[in-house]
Parts: sequence; C-alpha cells; structure tokens
Amino acid sequence: MLDIQSHVSLKSYNTFGFDAKARYWVEIDTDAQLQTLFQLTEFLAVPKLILGGGSNLLFTRDFEGLVIKMSIQGIEVLREDASHVFVKAGAGVNWHQLVLFCVQNGYAGIENLSLIPGTTGAAPMQNIGAYGVEIEQVFDHLEAVDIRTGETRIFNHAECRFGYRESVFKHEAKGQYIISNVTFRLNKQPVFHIDYGAIRETLATMGISEDKLSIKAISDAVIRIRRSKLPNPAEIGNAGSFFKNPEISKDQFETLKTEYPAMPGFPTGDLTMKVPAGWLIEQCGWKGKHVGNAGVHSKQALVLVNHGGATGSEILSLASKVQQSVEDKFGIRLNPEVNIV
Ligand code: EPU
Repeated sequence: MLDIQSHVSLKSYNTFGFDAKARYWVEIDTDAQLQTLFQLTEFLAVPKLILGGGSNLLFTRDFEGLVIKMSIQGIEVLREDASHVFVKAGAGVNWHQLVLFCVQNGYAGIENLSLIPGTTGAAPMQNIGAYGVEIEQVFDHLEAVDIRTGETRIFNHAECRFGYRESVFKHEAKGQYIISNVTFRLNKQPVFHIDYGAIRETLATMGISEDKLSIKAISDAVIRIRRSKLPNPAEIGNAGSFFKNPEISKDQFETLKTEYPAMPGFPTGDLTMKVPAGWLIEQCGWKGKHVGNAGVHSKQALVLVNHGGATGSEILSLASKVQQSVEDKFGIRLNPEVNIV
C-alpha cells in the first residue's frame, strides 16, 4: 500500500528548515513499494523530487509535483573475500548509522566520513567526502530505478562518473533515477587517513598515540572536529558547505599568492589548485555576518545558516552577495554545492 498525501510541509524534511510544500508526497520503505509507485499511471508524468535526508537542498519555492521520500532501511553483509567486506545498505539508511555499523564491525574505509548528515542513497549523488576520503574510494555498485520506466538498473563505479562532489546523477542522469540500494567494498585491513586538517592534532588531544590508532579513534576524532566547527542542523538550519571549493589554474594561484601570501591551496593532481572557499569568504569579511535571518556561520565561513525564519530566497540572495564579493576581490567564481529547487 502506498500512502500518497497532498500539500505536505517539507519543513522537517530539509536541514535548512524551510517551510516549502509538496503538492504530492509519498514515503517509500521497501523496494516493492517503489515498484508499485510506477504502476500508478496517474503519476508517471508528474515531476518528481527524490528526497533523502534533505541535508543538501535549498527550497526557494513549493514543489508542484511528487516528492518521494526514500526510507528503505537495512544493512546487510553480502559477501567477503580475503581483504574486503561487501556491505549493502538501503537508500534510507542514515549515513552516520552505516558508518557506526562499519566501525563497530571493523570494516574500514568510511570512518573519516563520520557524522555527515543525510542518507546512504544520497551519498553517491555528490560523492560525499571529508577529511581526505570520498565514498568513491569504497563504492562498489548501486541499484537505481529508472524514473521513466520503473526498471531497476545497476550502476558500477565507472558508470557513476565520480568527481569532486560530482557524479553522473548531477549531470546526464540528473532527475532520471531513484537510487534504492548502495553496496560498498570495505577493507579488512585499515588504511588510516590522518593527514588532513586537524585529525592528527585532535587524536593527540584525545591522548591517542599513533601505535593505538584504530578506525574507532579516527571516527571519534572526526566527530569531535565536526561538532566543533559545523552547526548542528537540529539547532541552526544549514546544509553543510554551501559552495564547492573552487579549482583554479596554477598560474592564477601563483599570481594571487603574490598579493595574498597566506592564501591556502592544494594541488589536485592536474594543472589546477583547489582553494578553500571558506578562506576566500572569510577574507571578504563575511564570517559570522547576519543578513536578516540568513547568515554566514561564525566558525566555518563555507556554511550558510538559517538563524530562524529565513526563506530559501533570502539564503540564495546572501549566497549571490558572497559570490559577488569573492569574484570582485579574487576573480574566482564560487559554485554552489547544494541543490537548489
Ligand atoms: N578556512 C578558513 N576560514 C573558514 C573556513 C575554512 O580560512 O571559515 C580555511 C582554512 O585554511 C582551513 C581550510 O579552509 O584550513 C579548510 O577548511 P576545512 O577543513 O573546514 O574544510 P573545507 O575545505 O572548508 C571541506 C568540505 C567539507 C568537509 C571538510 C573536511 C567541501 C565543499 N567541503 O570543507 O564538507 O567536511 O572539507 O574534510 O569540499 C560538506 O560538503 O557539506 C562539508 C561540510
């Protein structure tokens, strides 16, 4: 049975807390329900929005179509070989719960991705990443349903075309598939990633020496760092990083460096450098600023926040002002990481 509802408020389904409405709404708990949905011919032509945890979404308007909230649960070990464990999770599994499951069982590879808000089904969409790890490093394959036909198809690693906060699902396949299950290939032998940002010093503060390192310790350190920098959406509405970190040519980077010697930059492996957008935004004086009910977070300038009662348009207008000032000062265009509806 499918319970399709009308005129549903999305306020508690997006981490910015915007009070947008869905014309139609359905929650999907099983693969079978997803199949049933495609037998309802009256909805075939209706525009659809697929919702996971709503942690990377900015609503500027009501959605005049069908919002499909993906809540398929279940974490299952499919098989293992000498060095890997293959773990399948339903699209609706809370990402952090999956991380905790893996950490508790000694399956390594996603401990650096602890506490990222959102669901497992949304994770491959933008190849979620943090502290030197992206999910493409442990991704095996996913199952997705074609929104036009209801047929299930498998996407392997290559077919997902992962990039920095990118996948085929944000480009050619945008809006065409509903991810229902994702399978990860975790490692039995951990490879510790502690070089990024504050992980090493946080471990030291926690009294964990390198010979005591474990995936649990890394997960705990990441949780500590995230809690200290990133606002909890349950308290202050936000969608994590609002912009992607821009990649600029090495030439442009060197030129800017002569004027701004403190500008951080990380080589990407090709001829570009990735510059932290948070630094650029902070240099433009935005960190901690309020504009009406919208604002730039006081501890991480890459995060735009809803201080209560802001609309999606207010956040978007603040985002354009931030973009403009970064462009005026540095000649760098910031691109949003969040999906704007
Ligand atoms: N920085 C500042 N001021 C700020 C923020 C950052 O100067 O207000 C500079 C500092 O130099 C800092 C550097 O930027 O050392 C990097 O900052 P941070 O480690 O916080 O990471 P980020 O590049 O700002 C990215 C991801 C985050 C992820 C962190 C940690 C993107 C768009 N964001 O942020 O992801 O948690 O790295 O790995 O790549 C998200 O996607 O929603 C998200 C939170």
